Amino acid sequence: MEEPQHFRDPLAAFLGACGVTAVLAETPQNRFAEVETTVDSEPEDLLLAQSDDLDDDLLPPPADEDDAVQAAREVARTAPDVATLHRLLAGFDGCPLKQLARTTCLGEGPVGAPVMFVGEAPGRDEDEAGRPFVGRSGQLLEKMLKAIGLSREAVYISNVIPWRPPANRTPSPIETATCEVFVRREIALVRPKVLVALGGSAAKTLFATDTGIMRQRGHWVTFDADGHPIDAVAMFHPAYLLRTPGEKRRAWQDLLAVRRKLVALGAIT
Ligand code: URA
Repeated sequence: MEEPQHFRDPLAAFLGACGVTAVLAETPQNRFAEVETTVDSEPEDLLLAQSDDLDDDLLPPPADEDDAVQAAREVARTAPDVATLHRLLAGFDGCPLKQLARTTCLGEGPVGAPVMFVGEAPGRDEDEAGRPFVGRSGQLLEKMLKAIGLSREAVYISNVIPWRPPANRTPSPIETATCEVFVRREIALVRPKVLVALGGSAAKTLFATDTGIMRQRGHWVTFDADGHPIDAVAMFHPAYLLRTPGEKRRAWQDLLAVRRKLVALGAIT
């Protein structure tokens, strides 16, 4: 009888045990090393080939945090509705991330939606489309919504950061603080019945907490949307669930809790 593949190939067995599902090349690649690029390189490849330091060399020096946040506040507070807020955000130059992003990835969905989901920042697919959660994470999010009887079109979806950070790096505190002003105003203008932070990063920003997602998820808090209280909760980010399918069980419990809350508030039947 032929030996199973994983006995014949201990490396494959080890990688499988680590959760690796596909091997892309025989030798490891240092994606942080500087590489020769030609003018024909896709901007995307250029970004991925460079370290975050080099990416940030392409950006203007960060503004003083107070100035950047103050400028964002002055702009955002004047928006009487979501369309105006989006126009102002797309024209706002106070966050350097905008300069390397292809698009401003604006939130979408109906004003007054029963539930609003807020992620961290656009990835490559979202940056190309200028729409939040359209890549693999978005596909999973749509399946999750369907599982509790909601469609993507029925909910509002946005991100804390509307511009893709170079090479998907973690946004800096000043970038987050500046963009946060706009998403807070967006939440106040959308006025969902329930707010869901997707992932630890969004939860930490929106709920102004240091608590990690493992402890934060499933705990309801009251979000102050410009003086209007909104029931809010954090869930695992779909990207994390794609990497860690074993957590889908807990994500399902969190989804059911969101559904129960929506029913209790009379937002859905
Ligand atoms: N991850 C996010 O946090 N937001 C998106 O829009 C896509 C992936």
